[in-house]
Amino acid sequence: MLPDVLQDQTATALMYATGPSTPKLGEALAEHHRVLDGVDLAPTQIVATNGTAGGIALVAQLFLEPGDVVICEDLTYWGAVASFRLQGAELRTVPLDEGGLVVEALADLLDQLAREGKRVKLLYTIAACQSPTGSVLDEGRRTAVAELCRRHGIAILQDDTYGEIRFERDRFPRSFLACAPERTIHLGSFSKTIATGLRLGWLATSPEIAAAAAGVRTDLGTTAIIQLLVAEFVRSGQYDAHVAGGAPFYQHKRDLLLQGLQEHCAPWCDWTVPPGGYYLWVTLKQGTVEPFEALAEAEGVSFLAGPHFSPTRVADEGFRLAYGEVAVDDITEGARRLGRALEAAAEKVGASR
Ligand SMILES: Cc1ncc(COP(=O)(O)O)c(C=O)c1O
Repeated sequence: MLPDVLQDQTATALMYATGPSTPKLGEALAEHHRVLDGVDLAPTQIVATNGTAGGIALVAQLFLEPGDVVICEDLTYWGAVASFRLQGAELRTVPLDEGGLVVEALADLLDQLAREGKRVKLLYTIAACQSPTGSVLDEGRRTAVAELCRRHGIAILQDDTYGEIRFERDRFPRSFLACAPERTIHLGSFSKTIATGLRLGWLATSPEIAAAAAGVRTDLGTTAIIQLLVAEFVRSGQYDAHVAGGAPFYQHKRDLLLQGLQEHCAPWCDWTVPPGGYYLWVTLKQGTVEPFEALAEAEGVSFLAGPHFSPTRVADEGFRLAYGEVAVDDITEGARRLGRALEAAAEKVGASR
């Protein structure tokens, strides 16, 4: 593929890819969204970004001024929090339950912010395969969220970094891009489906927002040759086949972990059952994650603890387990060791009473 791209598209491949994206990537991803979600996009509505992280930073740069409010989920992605804060934004949060963002809490928060006279610009949501909880926001909640954002004049920034890694396909409704195209900025990434080192993601949105985002970018685009190689991978259908083909492998890992948690950890914690993605969220039945972390580490088990994901509160009752990158043969043993650490932590809590 590389020699062909270099020979056929030398000028594009080795130059800056300023503006939205190379036309080839724009065309391939517009078609990808048409198949995935039934949305019609022009290639110029696709803006290539430096991963989802770059997309978030670009949107923050485009939308936010000091004092603007961004609403995000609590728990959420720390990199997004950092990007919003860098622009001087104030973060306000809505809680999550097993179905994702709690709509009633969002409605109350929006009313509260209106009373406070705040300028609310964005709702940032990881609506599918939420990180860290793994939840997927269903159709009903999406419609309600879109309606609230419409009423309050807010843009929806959907971070879909993991949203195409699907085990239970019927649990995935159409994206916000399909139900609120006029106000959605959809962020996709090849990081978790091909390789993080590509540093290639995209932003799909209205023609106006896409043009404005391309207009404010100061990075001179992402690597053109990577865009062209990935565009060919997507155009040829190999990308969709690769992602769909990988899903049973990750589902098997998830299932091994669920089984291991049930066998070894159930007395001390609860956990979510993600319908896709690479993560699940564990909640301790008693005690906090901080003293437990060292015990787990001593057993050779590591995870990201709650405070890492919470912009406003301590969130020290839980932690994220990542099964995606753990070798199949290590998962059951990992759960067994986690159980040992949980038991030791519970004994400590008991002894200190
Ligand atoms: C929810 C979420 N968004 C964005 C990113 C950044 O992804 P990318 O490599 O596409 O920049 C990550 C990385 O782990 C993530 O978990």
